[in-house]
Amino acid sequence: MKLEERIAAGQLIESGDELTDEYRELLCGIIQFTANSEFMGAFAESEWIPRAPSYQRKLALIAKNQDEIGHAQMQYQLAEDLGRDREQMLTSLLAGENGFGNAFHYPADEWIDIGLLAWMLDGAAMQLQHSLMKTSYGPYARIMKRVCREEEFHIRHGEHIVREYATGSREKQERLQAGVDRWWSRAVMFFGLSDSRSEKSERMDELGIKPKTNDELRQQYFDTYVPKLRNYGIDIPDENLYYDEETEQWEYTPPDWEEFNRIVTEGGPETQARLDRRRTAFEETAWVRDALEAYDGTTANRFANNITA
Ligand SMILES: [Fe+2]
Ligand SMILES: [Fe+2]
Repeated sequence: MKLEERIAAGQLIESGDELTDEYRELLCGIIQFTANSEFMGAFAESEWIPRAPSYQRKLALIAKNQDEIGHAQMQYQLAEDLGRDREQMLTSLLAGENGFGNAFHYPADEWIDIGLLAWMLDGAAMQLQHSLMKTSYGPYARIMKRVCREEEFHIRHGEHIVREYATGSREKQERLQAGVDRWWSRAVMFFGLSDSRSEKSERMDELGIKPKTNDELRQQYFDTYVPKLRNYGIDIPDENLYYDEETEQWEYTPPDWEEFNRIVTEGGPETQARLDRRRTAFEETAWVRDALEAYDGTTANRFANNITA
């Protein structure tokens, strides 16, 4: 049976050898993008580890950060198994040639931003990750099962911070509202371009690589998050947002796709600083790689890009 027939019959593809060039290219593209996003998301949040407001919050944030780096590594490993070179993937990330999630190009200036990144943005990522548990490439689907289990805790950690602010002093409530005002449109855009604007969307869908489209995932997100935000007394900063009973779809102000394209291709306010931190971390850990090289040359490359965060 041909690859596409097997996918249509609901079979999981288990080996990279069975893939067509087109499938491999599309699959590696999404894996590399999600790996980069996990990686750079961790860099965004780790800035707050020294400044976490309590010991418990610090522990939770450290644990989340370790998870995110782990999610990145599992996905880089998968792309490597499919023929991409890890060194090359990380080099092109540093050179700004290979994108990552729009949200991680922006600063997290306040502690509530960390809560909102975990609650609203991991919550957005989770829509995609959850759908990828049904992707047609078996090894990717299984990685996503583990990722989703850990993401559930990240989202709860974020919601715990949000609840503290929502039920706290007037000042905290105002900071929460201002935070949502900053992050809402970024979360809406996080799913990527509208299906009508995305060239690859249809093919990814036909090949079962991405079982749900960007717009389907965005609608799911509204289903979950609009009631949750309102329940916390938060105003959603979009006066055109409403649920159309007839079409059973959320209507909303179209995001600024020009800004989105600019951010993911040229970078945003924090992109360079975060990539520089990654570069410095890599350089500062050169001695570990040198020690491994001296100990056993064959293992050095294996570890080279794992010791970075
Ligand atoms: Fe993650
Ligand atoms: Fe996460």
